[in-house]
Amino acid sequence: MQPPPRPADPPAPTGRRSAGQLADEAWQRLSPGLAVDAVAALGADEAEVFLTRVQVALADVHGPLVALYGDPADPDQLLARALRTVLAAAAERPAELRRLDRRREIDPGWFQHERMQGYVCYVDHFSGTLGELPDRLDHLSELGTTYLHLMPLLRPREGENDGGYAVADYRQVDPRLGTMADLETVAAALRERGISLCIDLVLNHTAAEHPWARGWLAGDPAYAGFYTAFPDRAMPDAYEATIPEVFPDRAPGSFTWVPEARGGAGGWVWTTFWSYQWDLDYANPEVTLAMLGEITWLANRGVEVFRMDAIPFMWKRMGTSCQNQPEVHDLVQLLHGLTRMAAPAVVFKAEAIVAPDDLVPYLGGHERERPECELAYHNQLMVLLWSSLATQDARLARTALRRMRPIPSRASWVTYVRGHDDIGWAVTDEDAAAIGVGGHSHRRFLNDFFAGHYPASSSRGALFQENALTGDARISGSAASLCGIEAALERGDDDAVEAGIRRLVLLYSVAFAYGGVPLLYMGDEIALLNDDRYLEDPSRAPDNRWMHRPLMDWTAAGRRHDPTTLEGRVYARMFRLGQVRRSLPALRGGTEPSVLHAGSDRVLAWRRRHPRSGAFVGLANFSPDPEVVDADTVTGFGTLDLVLGSDGPLRVEHGGLVVPGLGFAWYAEP
Ligand code: GLC
Repeated sequence: MQPPPRPADPPAPTGRRSAGQLADEAWQRLSPGLAVDAVAALGADEAEVFLTRVQVALADVHGPLVALYGDPADPDQLLARALRTVLAAAAERPAELRRLDRRREIDPGWFQHERMQGYVCYVDHFSGTLGELPDRLDHLSELGTTYLHLMPLLRPREGENDGGYAVADYRQVDPRLGTMADLETVAAALRERGISLCIDLVLNHTAAEHPWARGWLAGDPAYAGFYTAFPDRAMPDAYEATIPEVFPDRAPGSFTWVPEARGGAGGWVWTTFWSYQWDLDYANPEVTLAMLGEITWLANRGVEVFRMDAIPFMWKRMGTSCQNQPEVHDLVQLLHGLTRMAAPAVVFKAEAIVAPDDLVPYLGGHERERPECELAYHNQLMVLLWSSLATQDARLARTALRRMRPIPSRASWVTYVRGHDDIGWAVTDEDAAAIGVGGHSHRRFLNDFFAGHYPASSSRGALFQENALTGDARISGSAASLCGIEAALERGDDDAVEAGIRRLVLLYSVAFAYGGVPLLYMGDEIALLNDDRYLEDPSRAPDNRWMHRPLMDWTAAGRRHDPTTLEGRVYARMFRLGQVRRSLPALRGGTEPSVLHAGSDRVLAWRRRHPRSGAFVGLANFSPDPEVVDADTVTGFGTLDLVLGSDGPLRVEHGGLVVPGLGFAWYAEP
């Protein structure tokens, strides 16, 4: 059992107490009561584990809680309520998940292991329903998948729902996909195969139809202050002066007039995204506590990774972009720390598609490190890969990646090539200037290139959310189509098909070896092309992101082992990336890669070393022509062996290594 509480420390001589001291004092006040409840709920042994966990992490939640709600709310009272939610969740946690908790507490860096490899899919597009999903798991296991992100599957509103990102009930599954019981069965089947289930937690907003939103509209005091509505345009106009628009073409602005708001007087409701997605007001601690209840409940269904959707937007401040506010980090730290008290097997993954300097803090990389999300999408790397492909030049990638701040060793990137969203060109003007190009004109070039507007481009992308005012746009399109495979197939030009495959595999060769959890986007392993069937569905037709959310083509997948087919040519190479990655401890997370200058501006070169491993060097040539790199920089006088190459061992020419056009090579110390 817990040792008796020790007397409170005397205040520090200056009268100012550190965050740790304040948390300790709160612990002294709260722990006696919590200990009694914990023993009653969990039994003496489990209670001891639980209380230790709470005590160890208390400063990580107490600090953010006081920062967010210390004034005027009573932080002790809020903390006590949060801890009650957490204790209730711990008590309800199924035995199998508690065993997982125990394993993860022994192996806290589990998500950084070189065997980690992700896969992302829509349930309906991949298997039809959750019930049918277990029948498709062999495909994932064959690839080496250890992490499966199932795209939004909680019950959305009827009609348009932003691909499921307008959630009407966090505790129900979309009936078209199955039931919550089916989801639990899937989670268990995945666990059995060593695959962690990831789902989206859409927490910036709910659907307008969510009971919280209905309750708020109806004036139910339980939901007072859950959302924000202004009586007239004064405040919305003032905020919008500095808020960039997310969906300028069909959902301009960040507010929607709702006649039923404000007791029927009408009001402008905060809607950052579509008009039917209402932003929650996290300045109200009741919202945070309510969301904590939903997260811990879902964790107990077997979710291991929460993809924290659109988190930069969770806190608003006049005169700013209303993204990445310091309070967002407090909030995520608070929810993270509390969730892991109940479910330490769970990790958070940040979906923060923001500038590189704003991204690292989501991994806890602040002036003083703090536990926040364990994982975050490496949006910079993704964007730079596509940019390098378009320009056949790796200088921008080299410059921008070198400029990024290191991430805490307890965190890791999620490295990816393609996701379900459009690609927004997060290239900073500063990085562009460092290689002598203008940020705006470069972003414009990338849009034109991938939309196939240049004769030299065989890309089949489409512009998304073109903003006539600013000239900004983003790009939709499947990876294979952006790499030119679709156009080459249409022309019946097999050399061009091969070039397209090389581009696709080149990008993935970096995602698989840069460090972090690589994500395969469903269909890329067999080069699925743009799918325009979404145009037949009126609720999807106006959103061209659906063009790169294809249906899995299982007939095509059936050809994946036939080397004479497109699918076979792609699959064999993708498969090898995973297979070799798993054998390379240098690719373990927890350390940063260093980006090298290996004598060619067209080749991205990076070195990795884990303290427990030898060195690794990766090379990716974005030029269609062979490029010579400096052998000493790369292989360190021959101490590194080639472990995987697009074309086998590299030729040596005048003391340099020749990287084939659109080719890659991985070297590692044994
Ligand atoms: C995230 C999702 C995107 C969605 C938005 C609003 O950015 O990835 O698809 O539109 O959040 O929920």
